[in-house]
Amino acid sequence: MTSSAAIWDKLENLPRPTLGELFSAVRDGGEGADEPGGAERVAMLSDRIELGEGGILFDWSKTHLDRAVIAAFEELAEAMDFTGMRAKLFGGEVVNPTEGRAADHATLRGTGDEAKVEEAMALIDRMGMLVDAIHQGALGEIEHLIHIGIGGSALGPALGVDALSRDLSYCDVHVVSNIDGVALEAAFAKCDPAKTLIAVASKTFTTIETMTNARSALKWLADNGVSDPGGRVIALTANPEGAVEWGVDETRILPFQESVGGRYSIWSSIGFPIAMAVGMDDFRVMLAGAKAVDEHFRDTDGAANLVLRASFADLYYSRVRGCQTRAVFAYDERLGLFPDYLQQLEMESNGKRVTADMQPVDGPTAPITWGGVGTDAQHAVFQLLHQGTHLIPVDFIASVAPGDELDPAHHRILLMNCFAQGAALMAGKAGEDPARNYPGDRPSATILCDDLDAAALGALIAFHEHRTFANAVLMGINPFDQFGVELGKAMAKAIEKGGEAFDASTEALVKAAGLA
Ligand code: F6P
Repeated sequence: MTSSAAIWDKLENLPRPTLGELFSAVRDGGEGADEPGGAERVAMLSDRIELGEGGILFDWSKTHLDRAVIAAFEELAEAMDFTGMRAKLFGGEVVNPTEGRAADHATLRGTGDEAKVEEAMALIDRMGMLVDAIHQGALGEIEHLIHIGIGGSALGPALGVDALSRDLSYCDVHVVSNIDGVALEAAFAKCDPAKTLIAVASKTFTTIETMTNARSALKWLADNGVSDPGGRVIALTANPEGAVEWGVDETRILPFQESVGGRYSIWSSIGFPIAMAVGMDDFRVMLAGAKAVDEHFRDTDGAANLVLRASFADLYYSRVRGCQTRAVFAYDERLGLFPDYLQQLEMESNGKRVTADMQPVDGPTAPITWGGVGTDAQHAVFQLLHQGTHLIPVDFIASVAPGDELDPAHHRILLMNCFAQGAALMAGKAGEDPARNYPGDRPSATILCDDLDAAALGALIAFHEHRTFANAVLMGINPFDQFGVELGKAMAKAIEKGGEAFDASTEALVKAAGLA
């Protein structure tokens, strides 16, 4: 078998046709003559995943993937034992060697090892019972939920609530993550303490920001006449003992598995606020949407696997074309938090400098993920995408069905702009002078949902989870640990404790802020 280094060399030296050339149907019978152009190219690189009622179209035709590039990446997947690693992921085996753990998030959607799925389903059912009971008034009249968590314990809930609860909301949810008290005060200002529930979401139940915010929320309830503030706390955690020790009653602890990583935990009890906002039925639909992607990813080989295809393009741009960033623009207000969510998923997973077997990586790893919402972003940052000197692959995400009930012109204009940006980035335009010249040949992919419902949101998130995993496997890195976040936390504690000498610059800052 060819080594991965030799395949990367091959990729480096393959011809680099422009997107214009790739789209031209006939290439003079020369090299690449059997490369499909035009509509055939679209047919080759644009496919759907069905989700029951609707589905999602994944169009990668405006990228530089061609037959030769795809063939080389398929060879790389074989060299990196992608199939074996994927079987380990879904088989519940250890795929996180530094922590000796499996990564069992898909079991919460019903995919994977049978015994683990059974355990996961029992946890989901337990959450369902509590959500339904609260909706039926078991904890009194609850109108507001303040969800306290950070990182993976906040970004998923915030995204899910924001995306799905605009039409129908059983409960008004406020996700608070920052330790800056301004964030918690803003939530307090919008809630009636007599009708507010507090969810404390922390996998470890030790994170300083979350535990500090939780204490302040309890104090707020007590200060505002709630006689049993502790009775208003729901703990969402993989450390139920820690939650009991902290004072949460066992009946109000919703546990999840240690083998579910924080940034992969939206499917677990960490998703409690989503279920509180939209109801347990819709939460289960979100899980079902994710399951459809699990099955596609698990059962499809080569570039027909749409997740793997996306990963081929990701690695082609980051490792062969030297792109340091990848931008994601959701042409849908409901997905405003999606770029933030992806940022943690991709950068915390794949921002690594050693391989899974502890060797230095031999190329760049995760690109820097950034983005925003269209059309707003067009009027702010797209100048650089069209004419700047960086080459930035872009993902566009949109929904055919509108999220609003206003004049259909709104949604038509939104979608027209989305498609026009991809076309303009690709085609470019010769200008009368250099300042008005658009170079074109800039790649993009488009993810088009029939509708942005709970199933589509689940599918979109699962697609990106698996894309992150596939990227990691092809680079030989472990996407499931995150030791890089620890040093700063330890230093913050040391500053709090005092007595340790830091560099002169930090010492001066600590002194200037009166922390010493
Ligand atoms: O510091 C990073 C991190 O560990 C994330 O991976 C995690 O999602 C977040 O902190 C919150 O951790 P916890 O859920 O344990 O409070």
